[in-house]
Amino acid sequence: MSGFKTLTQMVAQAQENLNRGDWDYLVGAADTEASLRRNRQAVESWTFRPRILNDVSEVSYATEFMGANMRIPVLLPPIGSVQAFEAGGGQSVAEAAAEFGILQILSSSCSPDFKTVAAAVPGPRVFQLYLTGDRAWMDHQIQQMIECGYVGLCLTADTQVYSRRERDILKGYVPASGRIAGAGDFNYQATMTWETVAHIKDKFNIPLIMKGVMHPEDANRCVEVGVDVVYVSNHGGRQLDHTRACIDMLPGVVEAVAGRVPVVVDGGFMRGADVVKGLCLGADIVGMGRFEGLAMAAGGPTALVRALEILEHEIATTMALTGVAQLSDLNPSLLERAESIQAPHVLSAFPFLCEGY
Ligand SMILES: Cc1cc2nc3c(=O)[nH]c(=O)nc-3n(C[C@H](O)[C@H](O)[C@H](O)COP(=O)(O)O)c2cc1C
Repeated sequence: MSGFKTLTQMVAQAQENLNRGDWDYLVGAADTEASLRRNRQAVESWTFRPRILNDVSEVSYATEFMGANMRIPVLLPPIGSVQAFEAGGGQSVAEAAAEFGILQILSSSCSPDFKTVAAAVPGPRVFQLYLTGDRAWMDHQIQQMIECGYVGLCLTADTQVYSRRERDILKGYVPASGRIAGAGDFNYQATMTWETVAHIKDKFNIPLIMKGVMHPEDANRCVEVGVDVVYVSNHGGRQLDHTRACIDMLPGVVEAVAGRVPVVVDGGFMRGADVVKGLCLGADIVGMGRFEGLAMAAGGPTALVRALEILEHEIATTMALTGVAQLSDLNPSLLERAESIQAPHVLSAFPFLCEGY
């Protein structure tokens, strides 16, 4: 089903389509899932202080990122084993990203592989590489992705080791036809250091995104060693438990980066208003991981495009109602903290779900 009218319907459809194992893999997180709930709690506790009497008859939110035209300031983050939600996997996401007009970061931990996706769907696209081999293996992968035309390389720094996800552990769950992270030679991820970054920047001419930055000092160091995009993320709460929420780390990171490179944030962003909050706090682009997975589960690329259309409408409406006509006018003074009005939950952005909508 992809003719849904609301994002709540999209989520309900995803829940209906997935078996319990795939559902829990998608919505679940590490240990007690506190990082996941903190992400939502923090997004929900930012409230708008709208301005009035500005002309918002033409609201514009298209932007440019890594040389790509972005119809909305949102990217599709890497989702390992996305083929568990829809058979086309990373290629289906690529099709939706190309049709709608935003950037995808393709995970190295999903199928089909990055060469197949590059050959099948025109980019631009970024490749996220998990280090599952030695230095020579890594260099070979990077060389190949450059030859395939990827516009950027993304390294994920928050996954030194694979976390404990109890929902999956209890069921012995392994995503369908996926090479689950943590299997085999995933140990190389734990050897990734600042020296790895220096090596890549020295050897390859490819923009580098560092994903999983949470500390302002690391953000500053990333810029100093030549990282091209700082990506604030706690992996959607799926790695270290009990982190601060990503949106709460964002202002400190934005201050440390001081405009030298773009800043991306993800973690708990599910609706258009959530995206606008992230932009107000200084992000250039917002990533939406479970949103992407849920839309794929609801009906593959058609559903993902439909979900993005609704998201676009929500972003446009939120901007107009906060009295802002262009992205550059979004700023922290439009927000204020307040107690969140409900218990935070992975799906608390969809309060009508339990009412059967
Ligand atoms: C099912 C699933 C698989 C993921 N796989 C990867 C991955 O392969 N590589 C990666 O860097 N991040 C991965 N992530 C993390 C996302 O890229 C993103 O950081 C996270 O989903 C953002 O939080 P959100 O789901 O609240 O939007 C995955 C997330 C989910 C939900």
